[in-house]
Amino acid sequence: PSLEKDFLPLYYGWFLSKKSSENLRKTGQAFLDELGSLKVFKKESKYFLPAEDPKVKLDLTSYFAKRPPSVLHCTTKFTDFGKAMGADEYAQQEVVKASYGKAFTLTISALFLTTKTAGARVELSEQELLLWPGDVDKILPTDNLPKGSRAHITLGCASGIEPVQTGIDLLEFVKLEKAGTKGDEIEEIGGGKLQYFGNGMWMLLLSKKIEVKAIFSGYYG
Ligand code: 2AM
Repeated sequence: PSLEKDFLPLYYGWFLSKKSSENLRKTGQAFLDELGSLKVFKKESKYFLPAEDPKVKLDLTSYFAKRPPSVLHCTTKFTDFGKAMGADEYAQQEVVKASYGKAFTLTISALFLTTKTAGARVELSEQELLLWPGDVDKILPTDNLPKGSRAHITLGCASGIEPVQTGIDLLEFVKLEKAGTKGDEIEEIGGGKLQYFGNGMWMLLLSKKIEVKAIFSGYYG
């Protein structure tokens, strides 16, 4: 029974269908284009510009140049081929085994952007939450955030930033929300309500949530 233990993936997650992935990339791109052209954003763009040369023209598409190479995904558990904490425990759960290769519908409720990452916030259903690990929704050990708070799809990272950062950035938003810092409601734009949390942290609450099709599986690299 332990032979499988030698074959844990790099990570488990939901992998979007090709079509859903392409559509979400387009939606993310449209968000970058629109945000980048807004006066309110330009006024706050210093966070995205080099301090020594704050006059250069900011192009968000080239700023978030590190984009996921294949279909987009929502990581559930980063198992690091079995080396990560809790990897075996996660892989051995009945629900994980039973869900492997099964299709799900993920709901995207918001798009967000910081100086480091751009991503989509995923709202997990009760059934999907069963596949969510118990130990990933915190930055500090003392954080106490709702299960699934970290669920996201990375759309892009700034130069020098690793994709693991997107989930940490989303947790920062959730912590601010929880602290009652709702984010200034800036304006209605294309897809919904734009909120600004300061320090270059932007979130677009989608007026129409996006549903994407995705398969639960492991990624071996
Ligand atoms: P992501 O889920 O935010 O995109 C391979 O590196 C994938 O595993 C990426 O998709 C990445 O982030 C995720 N990942 C990498 N290291 C991680 C970690 N320590 N914790 C959680 N997810 C991680």
